[in-house]
Amino acid sequence: MTLREIIADEIFRVGAIPFSRFMQLCLYHPQLGYYSREHEQFGRDGDFYTSSDVHAVYGRLLARQFDEMWRALRSPGRVTVVELGPGRGLFAHDVLNWAAGRFPAFATALHYVLIESSPSLHSRLQQRFADEIAAGRVSLFRSIADAPQCDAAIVFANEFFDAVPVDVISGPGQLYIESDASGGFGETWREPDEAARRFVAEFGVAPGARERVEAAPQLRALVAEIAAKFDRGFGIVVDYGYTRPELEAGLHRDTLRAFHRHRLRTNLLASPGEQDITADVNFTAIAQLARRAGLEAMPLLRQSQFLIGIGEPTQFADVFDGCMLPQEHTKRALQLKHLITPEGLGEAFKVLVLYRGVERESVQRLSGMAFTR
Ligand SMILES: C[S@@+](CC[C@H](N)C(=O)[O-])C[C@H]1O[C@@H](n2cnc3c(N)ncnc32)[C@H](O)[C@@H]1O
Repeated sequence: MTLREIIADEIFRVGAIPFSRFMQLCLYHPQLGYYSREHEQFGRDGDFYTSSDVHAVYGRLLARQFDEMWRALRSPGRVTVVELGPGRGLFAHDVLNWAAGRFPAFATALHYVLIESSPSLHSRLQQRFADEIAAGRVSLFRSIADAPQCDAAIVFANEFFDAVPVDVISGPGQLYIESDASGGFGETWREPDEAARRFVAEFGVAPGARERVEAAPQLRALVAEIAAKFDRGFGIVVDYGYTRPELEAGLHRDTLRAFHRHRLRTNLLASPGEQDITADVNFTAIAQLARRAGLEAMPLLRQSQFLIGIGEPTQFADVFDGCMLPQEHTKRALQLKHLITPEGLGEAFKVLVLYRGVERESVQRLSGMAFTR
């Protein structure tokens, strides 16, 4: 059966399904979901680029920040970096390499945990990190529930939360998906369920009659589950997204979109499992839910501010290290520019730093937090 048939069959059995269920099946159906299938999702041959795809520079700058965070935790003998949804593992690879070369004390304490739910990406990661896994430096899990409890941890999530299935609320109600006469799918509206309604009331805004806003009630359980995994440490969430005041100002409505081969696709219901579906992240919800789980949140930063804060004290030594030729220098400068300028990823991407069991002054002193001081 194709994924289209599987979804149509579910709708035939239970009636129209909430959009979040449709998105869940499109992205994560165990065999046919977009992330589960054996195909290239990332980079030039895939459907989108992430910061890790741009250059090792991103992992290098973050390795420097992780080293500082480890020191802020008073340099424990073991610290676990937990990466949520590592995809191909490029970021982890860059962090491990740069830490080993530049921050040897941190590298000795570092254990790297990869949590990747996609079966096909999981096996790619198993191959890529076979040596590190055998040496006990890296572990790989399918779900957050399977990962071990940590004393000191740094949880890192780059473009993880934008792939969490969301619901859609509009004037007529909550979006449900039904089968249409031509064998495809169509939209229908129902009274919003309690979870979506509560989410919008707490973290969102009521949409106008013809407007759409997203609700991500799944964040509740997800943030609580992540927070419960470590006693002290940091969470770093990097993604495109917004705060509630921005929503109130009329921004970030109807942010759901689909990508296929670097092209924006307008029809979210077409080709289930063959296109990426993603939505902007509600940072107000993540920060509030993290607070309820006992973490504290720093002010939200733009990726440009975060990376400039980390790089500036060393004049971006991590970026330009190893450049012998002027052309190489220029190439790296362009890659850095892509990460920090508004035309690149610098403005649209935001960084939320969460922490627990560390004094706020030590957190404020982190180079990445320079723009919060
Ligand atoms: C948009 S991709 C980002 C990949 C990578 N972080 C990057 O920036 O290149 C999202 C990744 O999260 C994974 N993922 C989504 N939900 C997950 C979950 N609950 N547990 C583990 N991995 C998950 C997906 O399989 C996918 O690899």
